[in-house]
Amino acid sequence: TLAIDPTAKGATIDDTMYGVFFEDINRAADGGLHAELVQNRSFEYSTADNAAYTPLTGWAPTGGTLDVVDDGARMNERNRNYLRLGLPAGVINSGYNSGLAVEKGKRYDFSAWARSDQPAGTPVHVGLTDPAGKDLAPPVEVRVKGDGWTKYTGTFAARESSTTGRLLLDAGGTGTLRLDMVSLFPQDTFKGHGLRKDLAEKIAALDPGFVRFPGGCLVNTGSHRGYEAPDFERRRSFQWKDTIGPVEQRATNWNFWGYNQSYGLGYYEYFQFSEDVGAMPLPVVPALVTGCGQNRATDDPELLRRHIQDTLDLIEFANGPADSTWGRKRAEMGHPEPFGLTHVAVGNEENLADEFFSRFTRFRAAIEARYPDITVVGNSGPDDTGANFDRLWQLNRDAGVDLVDEHYYNSPSWFLENNDRYDSYDRNGPKVFLGEYASQDNRYSNALAEAAFMTGLERNADVVKLASYAPLLSNEDYVQWRPDMIWFNNHASWGSTSYEVQKLFMTNVGDHVVKSTASGTPWSPEPITGAIGLSSWATSVAYDDVKVTSADGRELFADDFSVDGGSWTGNGAGNWGVVDGRFVQSDTAATNPLMTAGDPTWSDFTFSVKATKLSGS
Ligand code: AHR
Repeated sequence: TLAIDPTAKGATIDDTMYGVFFEDINRAADGGLHAELVQNRSFEYSTADNAAYTPLTGWAPTGGTLDVVDDGARMNERNRNYLRLGLPAGVINSGYNSGLAVEKGKRYDFSAWARSDQPAGTPVHVGLTDPAGKDLAPPVEVRVKGDGWTKYTGTFAARESSTTGRLLLDAGGTGTLRLDMVSLFPQDTFKGHGLRKDLAEKIAALDPGFVRFPGGCLVNTGSHRGYEAPDFERRRSFQWKDTIGPVEQRATNWNFWGYNQSYGLGYYEYFQFSEDVGAMPLPVVPALVTGCGQNRATDDPELLRRHIQDTLDLIEFANGPADSTWGRKRAEMGHPEPFGLTHVAVGNEENLADEFFSRFTRFRAAIEARYPDITVVGNSGPDDTGANFDRLWQLNRDAGVDLVDEHYYNSPSWFLENNDRYDSYDRNGPKVFLGEYASQDNRYSNALAEAAFMTGLERNADVVKLASYAPLLSNEDYVQWRPDMIWFNNHASWGSTSYEVQKLFMTNVGDHVVKSTASGTPWSPEPITGAIGLSSWATSVAYDDVKVTSADGRELFADDFSVDGGSWTGNGAGNWGVVDGRFVQSDTAATNPLMTAGDPTWSDFTFSVKATKLSGS
């Protein structure tokens, strides 16, 4: 029994309490939230970064001579590689996952930068096709004229849907054609601002109070290559100035998570997205110290000065008048009004407490001197406890920092046992920004543990001011980190159980805590051994820690398991097996990854089951 006393008011819960943390990890940007369909559109992938890459990754030749070159004919200093075609020649791009996903009835904008050395120009046939070459839309014909870089455009109207689309460029004639920045972009994007609709809508449905971006380890680490010493120069740690302006003039980067980023999703787009979902933007800038396994501090006064200046410029880019140096760039990109930036986080998961804090102090002093209304957020390292954590908290406390970023990824039982974590936090010290947390799996029980923990966050809403689950997005074919909140491929997306918990809390933020007390006997599960309904299903049943073992002793399945009514009726007709952690009607090695060739069908197995029954009959 819960007794609730609405008159006994506790902490106020801010509307910004729950937000999201977007990091470009698991291909969350290119091939994900950034709606561009072409992979490696500017031919910047490099074998030097990743042995599995070449400058033609994502592309396949259809004939002729093709070279990716970096020479004096390049488009600009930041976009150095281009594709040189000895004519006649052609190339095909196959996008991400199974290909370019297009929907019947929708329109897609093609663009490419090109130059031709032929006085009469070069004809280019552009096709949106299936893998066999059949048109999914009427083709686009362009004639490239002139030997200076020029943008060519066209639009495809898809007359068929496909998840395996290809973009074909077939150039005729003789001589040389140069190509760069080849793009296919859906016209139908979230609020028309270039983000993939289904993903952006799932994030918007959370009603986030803030958007923390762009990382994470992505922000303050150098190149991923063997965790070498960080190179804080441009093109390595996340430098916001690389990511704004016309896309063909933006840098690309080989990022910490092991893949190439186009920066098509850049700082302007992050601010715009935050505004579009009604959330406070919360950027994280590098502090010239790295955590994330690198643990190095850079001692270069000039570099530190530049990074501090870059941060001041970032604030001007977000908030400055349209006639200020950086505010003008924002206005030129289409947003003359300020974005209303109020918080900037300096650093992420710092392991070198004192080295970080001395640099943080310089950033903070410069920001507060110029922009006294901006809150500068500190952090407490990658752990939920320990000497580094304690030291960082001490430094933040002594310096009177307003908000300190905490991160932890732990087991469900840790989350259950630490519901009271913030009950004893100093009410007079810095407030907590829980910038990253998750219990380590995407099971139902993880989501329940997170929900239980979040009641502790809310109870302590006077101390915990901001909280975001992490990471937010994962492309199922390019995973560096799990669990994740929202999963996707090139055409579909789905929320995890943790997504549903976040949504429940985030769309029901209270105004303040009220006193509540619980009485009665807490539920206590009884272990059961035996059949759990393989022969006759209950209408609704849930078990914890189900283990299914085959007659020859192999563990076939270990998970939590629940059945909800109707979908499981009529079981008697089939042979139920386990695929990807779910009981399904699949009884052959061909369709069930847990079976090997030669196994009997599921109906021939003897199951022994040990489980804890949670509910149902
Ligand atoms: O969220 C994934 C990673 O976890 C982040 O990049 C980092 O901050 C943390 O270690």
